Amino acid sequence: MLDERGIEYVACGSKELDITNRAQVQAKFTELKPEAVFHCAAYTAVDKAEDEAKDLNWQVNEQGTKNIANAAQQFGATLIYISTDYVFDGTSEGEYQVAAPTNPKNEYRKAKLAGEEAVKSIMDKYYIIRTSWVFGEYRKNFVYTMLRLAKTHDHLTVVDDQVGRPTWTRTLAKFMLYAIDHQIPYGTYQLSNDDSCTWYEFAREILKNENVEVSPVTSAEYPQKAYRPRHSIMSLNKVKATGFEVPTWQEALGRFMDEVGEDK
Ligand SMILES: NC(=O)c1ccc[n+]([C@@H]2O[C@H](COP(=O)([O-])OP(=O)(O)OC[C@H]3O[C@@H](n4cnc5c(N)ncnc54)[C@H](OP(=O)(O)O)[C@@H]3O)[C@@H](O)[C@H]2O)c1
Repeated sequence: MLDERGIEYVACGSKELDITNRAQVQAKFTELKPEAVFHCAAYTAVDKAEDEAKDLNWQVNEQGTKNIANAAQQFGATLIYISTDYVFDGTSEGEYQVAAPTNPKNEYRKAKLAGEEAVKSIMDKYYIIRTSWVFGEYRKNFVYTMLRLAKTHDHLTVVDDQVGRPTWTRTLAKFMLYAIDHQIPYGTYQLSNDDSCTWYEFAREILKNENVEVSPVTSAEYPQKAYRPRHSIMSLNKVKATGFEVPTWQEALGRFMDEVGEDK
């Protein structure tokens, strides 16, 4: 999207910049003097963060975020930090407003919330953007996994008792740029595609043109180490109040499939 807009940028993976290394972060900011920093890096292996990678989870998600926030503040940059619906416990029947009480239920969630708190306490010019169920062109995600499995299976079972909001990376990226372009008030926002679904309903929509049967199962039939929320719907009111138009997840998925989905 930055390419499309002709905006100059430098993109760093962990090899170019290890955010846990404070000296490296300082050196990179000294070299680049960025006006805006999109901080999307995170340790995201939710189950491993429970035990074998507990320390790494905290080093990246809390300390790494502190390093980025300190440097961004020092250099006067605006920071956009990507956070998660996982700061909530996912037990509310309604929508989580931005200011609703947080209650992170596992190590990954706790460290991501600590990242949010670091950004708030260190930065003046920041946007924290919480998102959920992300899919897009690059890297592994649920849409690609379903399309890949459909090529080798006649029948798939998918969890039907966890409700959330899918988010197309293009919608998210668009809002990240929108926040800066429109100089919306600094603070915390929640952005996913509109409407909601279960993983099963999401899978059905992804696979509607594939020759595969999809059946619902309960979470109890598919146990995972780290806690997963049953009903994790974040309110989009604050984002909508900025004038940003949020497509439904069905519209976003349709456009994504038109762009790249069929090739995968
Ligand atoms: N995926 C979702 O459904 C979802 C939902 C809510 C929020 N989020 C948030 O969205 C953001 C992106 O998540 P994702 O799903 O794209 O995760 P991902 O695929 O695991 O990507 C994580 C990125 O972080 C980088 N990274 C990890 N450790 C690093 C370090 N020490 N220094 C620098 N970079 C490091 C990785 O770089 P390398 O590839 O070079 O290792 C990778 O580019 C995260 O903040 C995540 O918490 C994601």
